[in-house]
Amino acid sequence: MEKKTVLFVDDEPNILSGLQRMLRPMRRTMNFKFAEDGPAALEIMAAGNVDVVVSDMRMPGMDGATLLATIQEKYPHAIRIMLTGQADNEAILRTVSVVHQFLAKPADPELLKQVINRATALQDLMADERLKEVISSIGSLPSLPETYARLQQVLRDPDGSLADAAAVIEQDLAMSAKVLQLVNSAFFGLFRHIESPSRAVNLLGLDTIKALVLGVGVFEDMKVVSSNTFNVKALWSHSMATAAFAKQIALRESGDREMIDHAFVAGLLHDVGKLLLFSRMPDEYEQAVRTATETSCSLLEAEQGIFGLSHGDVGGYLIGLWGLPGPVVESITFHHRLHRYPHPGFGPALIVHVADYISYRLDPDQCIGEKPCLDEEILDQAGMLDRIDEWSDLCRELQEKNSDG
Ligand SMILES: [Fe+2]
Ligand SMILES: [Fe+2]
Repeated sequence: MEKKTVLFVDDEPNILSGLQRMLRPMRRTMNFKFAEDGPAALEIMAAGNVDVVVSDMRMPGMDGATLLATIQEKYPHAIRIMLTGQADNEAILRTVSVVHQFLAKPADPELLKQVINRATALQDLMADERLKEVISSIGSLPSLPETYARLQQVLRDPDGSLADAAAVIEQDLAMSAKVLQLVNSAFFGLFRHIESPSRAVNLLGLDTIKALVLGVGVFEDMKVVSSNTFNVKALWSHSMATAAFAKQIALRESGDREMIDHAFVAGLLHDVGKLLLFSRMPDEYEQAVRTATETSCSLLEAEQGIFGLSHGDVGGYLIGLWGLPGPVVESITFHHRLHRYPHPGFGPALIVHVADYISYRLDPDQCIGEKPCLDEEILDQAGMLDRIDEWSDLCRELQEKNSDG
């Protein structure tokens, strides 16, 4: 595998030399470059082949926000990481659409290494250069117009509460993914593993959510709500159902809070790759949908034929770049090919695979092309095959309860 190149930008020479020392053991597998200001960094970028940029926020002249925005525009394939101090709050707000991950300053060496290693490993999985560029350039994904309007309304209402905002955000895949990205990286110095969108909103607080939504416009309104070919609303209800089913199955089998949260979020975001492909490459995605509908192949095969990858791959890549926890990223990537997942025992990936299957079985109209099948061999190996009927009943009851209420 080709050596990756990581560029560090900081105006304090001491910090750069500290990084240089700290990264020495990693030089066998990576190249490191260092720049003391924005213009010097852009010169290095222009020379080519930089895979990851780690920039300081506060620098004289061009600040980190401007630098990373320029890099996003000119070199969209590069992964952009921002080092931030507590005092940078306002400036950070401007960068939420250009930065993949935030790290608190001073950088914890182990964490920095881990973040760089994970990001470059993801890059290696994504062989297609064009898709890599498209996905790395994404700041946020579009939301359903009515959800977007409802959130604006809640935030403009003087009586609107944080709980009201959380209830809206939790209903939307794009908004949920974005708030989880922020709280799972060191945005405002928060570095927590938070898997529930509503807890993420609580942690950010009403003022930050207001500033993000009304000030910076971090969430996007969807321009094309529904084409004749691809039904975005069906994707939303399928995602909500899969999230609810995944949580229900996890709750039934386990008391592990983290696993339950992972299953819920991965269920909610498992098909985020469809939204990504449809919103960024609509003509090609509609072609894939048409192929799946008109011929007897599955949507997955049609996507592979056109993009060389499936919605699981691209969704996992984006959510991984955004720094969400490994089990969530992996569950998204492998939900249609559990047999390729390295740890196929009972866990979020298996749960999401089953929840997706049950969701299409209960609502077949939402499926495009041939329905996905259950990987019975893996379920059997995990000792879970005989649980499917009970899980299906549980999900059906939940669905009936929700449609009554
Ligand atoms: Fe899927
Ligand atoms: Fe699905």
